[in-house]
Amino acid sequence: MKTRLEQIREKAISQISGCDSAEKLNEIRVAILGKKGELTDLLKSMKDVAPEDRPKVGQMVNEARTEIERVLEEHKSRIERALREARMKAEVIDVTLPAGKAQIGHRHPNTIALEEVERIFVGMGYEVVEGSEVEKDYYNFEALNIPADHPAKDEQDTFYITCESGDILLRTQTSGVQVHEMEKGRLPIRMLAPGRVFRSDEVDATHSPCFHQIEGLVVDKHITFADLKGTLAEFAKELFGRETRVKFRPHHFPFTEPSAEMDVSCFKCGGKGCRFCKGSGWIEILGCGMVHPHVLEMSGIDPEEYTGFAFGIGLERIALLKYEIDDMRLLYENDIRFLRQF
Ligand code: DAH
Repeated sequence: MKTRLEQIREKAISQISGCDSAEKLNEIRVAILGKKGELTDLLKSMKDVAPEDRPKVGQMVNEARTEIERVLEEHKSRIERALREARMKAEVIDVTLPAGKAQIGHRHPNTIALEEVERIFVGMGYEVVEGSEVEKDYYNFEALNIPADHPAKDEQDTFYITCESGDILLRTQTSGVQVHEMEKGRLPIRMLAPGRVFRSDEVDATHSPCFHQIEGLVVDKHITFADLKGTLAEFAKELFGRETRVKFRPHHFPFTEPSAEMDVSCFKCGGKGCRFCKGSGWIEILGCGMVHPHVLEMSGIDPEEYTGFAFGIGLERIALLKYEIDDMRLLYENDIRFLRQF
């Protein structure tokens, strides 16, 4: 029995010291000290031992058990310590490593184009003012000489806001800001009013229910069409390059008389005609005209004393042209891969 005990003890100690995980260690414990373990088995054969030897043998078994338990405990804490150290090593943070690159945003082509237009006009002494997107019918239409039966007032084009008086809408143009400025009665006026406008349009490559315009207005004594032409020609040269030529085509707007649309010589082909200008050599960029005397009068300005000119630029159109983008929808999707290119 003594030899058997010695064998168990030695085997246990060698198994324990060769073990490298807490689970395996537990398996060893069960195999030796558990209810069906080898040492427990040995105790069961105590009945074969002569009664006078039993205390001695019992003591030997107990000593072996205590020793195995001690070795098990020691080895267990050794394994735990090694595990902890390995984990700490893996979790070490090297604070001297360079930081990851932060993703930063990008200015939108509309914003870049608007800032460019503002820079040019502010340089000529214009003030940038802000109008409101929700407007009264009066400012969007009536005060601009647009009659009640004008097709633009159709609900198919204009977003009306339901209210008792029925005269509140989302502005369809920035031209109403002209009226607000004139009503203030501070003359002369040199203003630029950029902002969102709304029309009940389906989305496609050239339309959107929400887009941006930049309104311009100059009112002073002795303002003539020559001032309009000189100002807008200078603007076009600043925006598209000094070699740019301009052309004014007669047009009709209710709030200006006479009215015109301004074309610029194609900055791609210089006017020879190419795919970009659809072969014509010219690209339309804005509407303009001399402020209609009715419009001045309605806003409290004497048309005998003061005259003025106005213009309206489509911001998206400028951005699309300047950056050669062929689909307006790209401007609204805000795909960072697209925006990064400008
Ligand atoms: N409001 C016009 C539009 O939405 C653009 C415009 C044309 C504005 C001529 C003006 C102007 O101030 O003089 O189509």
